[in-house]
Amino acid sequence: MKKVVVKSSKKYEILIDRDILSKIYGYINPILKGNHIYIITDDIVDRLYGSVLTSQLKNENIIVYKYIIPNGEKSKNSDNYIAILNDMAVKGISRTDSVIAFGGGVPGDLAGFVAATYQRGISLIQIPTTLLAAVDSSVGGKTAIDLKQGKNLAGAFYQPDMVICDLSLMNTLPDDVFKDGCAEVIKYGILAGNPIFDQLKNPIKKNIESIVYRCIKIKRDIVQKDEKDKNIRQLLNLGHTIAHAIELLSGYTVSHGEAVAKGLLLIAKISYTQGFCSKAVLDRITDILDVYGFDTDPIYKEKDIASAIIMDKKRNNEYINLILIEDIGKCVIKKTSMSDLNNMIQKAMDYRG
Ligand SMILES: NC(=O)c1ccc[n+]([C@@H]2O[C@H](COP(=O)([O-])OP(=O)(O)OC[C@H]3O[C@@H](n4cnc5c(N)ncnc54)[C@H](O)[C@@H]3O)[C@@H](O)[C@H]2O)c1
Repeated sequence: MKKVVVKSSKKYEILIDRDILSKIYGYINPILKGNHIYIITDDIVDRLYGSVLTSQLKNENIIVYKYIIPNGEKSKNSDNYIAILNDMAVKGISRTDSVIAFGGGVPGDLAGFVAATYQRGISLIQIPTTLLAAVDSSVGGKTAIDLKQGKNLAGAFYQPDMVICDLSLMNTLPDDVFKDGCAEVIKYGILAGNPIFDQLKNPIKKNIESIVYRCIKIKRDIVQKDEKDKNIRQLLNLGHTIAHAIELLSGYTVSHGEAVAKGLLLIAKISYTQGFCSKAVLDRITDILDVYGFDTDPIYKEKDIASAIIMDKKRNNEYINLILIEDIGKCVIKKTSMSDLNNMIQKAMDYRG
């Protein structure tokens, strides 16, 4: 078993291994205070693994409640959020009890926000079941729901008390969901460089344990320095400003991972055409995205992408912090005006190298 300790506003452990879901009580027992556990999961994860989790908790005389949401991003909404809080209150869940977020980033973000706000915060255990959730959403304490006006518009920074990552659960992931997670892993490879970047030339599944471990450590190191996203945590948004714009333009029919891959290539092209990185760096990023078969066509025109970014960001001001690539393993935060951004995107999209 691999273990990563996060020392942020809360200190917690992330355990990474195979076949540990069926032994989970032994790991979480030391942090349990109450005897009720409220599991938030989706229908697919519940069908595949729900009984493994609940039966052993019940065998240990834990009173288990479960709230099952339909799978998919649409469930990360305020109706489910309020319905869950009400259900927890009806069931008499108290501040000493715990929430388990069981699933991918959707149940994870929703359950995290529920745990952050129910009775001003109760214990949270994350059990990620997708690659994306394992390397990204279950770690670092960003929790959120989507509002009609946009993604992740309500949320809280709320660290879990433990994360248990059972890699065997990923055997049942559909290829496209696994691929979504690969885009985030490639992001870590670009941010942190080697050894992880070169490791990605071989299929991630072959080295999943060491890759997940490395990604989590990269995120841990960043979160420990900047838990509230004030400075270097923004590096984790590499490719994401553009990705979110593409997701928005597509009405969320382009998956997060596909959009991240498109965002990574476009940001690499911007970095090259603005003189931040060499052609060799751009080529390495193009090649690694090709290895995973990502369609990196941004689909939309530069002015549409720029307007979608403006729509998303104008709540702040006329500048955004764009993450640019200087080298594999070296990215920088560049304050960019919206008008410059438009020109940068246009130049990058005109580039035919
Ligand atoms: N909080 C953060 O820091 C952070 C970071 C990145 C992404 N996110 C959020 O994460 C979400 C995306 O997460 P996701 O890609 O995990 O989506 P998801 O939770 O919707 O899971 C994707 C699909 O995989 C299915 N699934 C999950 N585990 C499975 C398994 N083991 N076997 C078979 N099927 C399984 C789900 O039922 C779902 O249909 C987005 O809402 C995004 O905003 C949050």
